[in-house]
Amino acid sequence: MPLHWDEKYNLGNEKIDAEHHIFLDLIVEFDSLATLGASKDKLVRALKEIGKYAEFHFLSEENLMIDSNYPDLEHHIKLHRILVASLEDQHFKLVAEVTGPSQVFDFLFQWFALHTSTEDKKLVSFIGT
Ligand SMILES: [Fe+2]
Repeated sequence: MPLHWDEKYNLGNEKIDAEHHIFLDLIVEFDSLATLGASKDKLVRALKEIGKYAEFHFLSEENLMIDSNYPDLEHHIKLHRILVASLEDQHFKLVAEVTGPSQVFDFLFQWFALHTSTEDKKLVSFIGT
């Protein structure tokens, strides 16, 4: 069965959950395109869309952290910066064909699953719904 949104990804904050839902949908869409044998150009554009959405979503989370005086703000923001840089790296590697779509997908999904179940979970337990 293809990857899809699961209850376990719901953290309990409406805004964060809604954005995570879209983020995962974009990752799933990238995987579907890869499975269908989409062109490199299409995959690169889909990855770029994920990168842009990630930047929007991180800014959104960071604004929530600032508004609530989240104590772990600096560390969490640093992790976001690292992902944005890694996404750019994945983008260049995909363009240069030193990586393939399935490795890019694994990277994206592992990051999503790990970051949401650890850092974002801590954030939501602090800020609440
Ligand atoms: Fe986050």
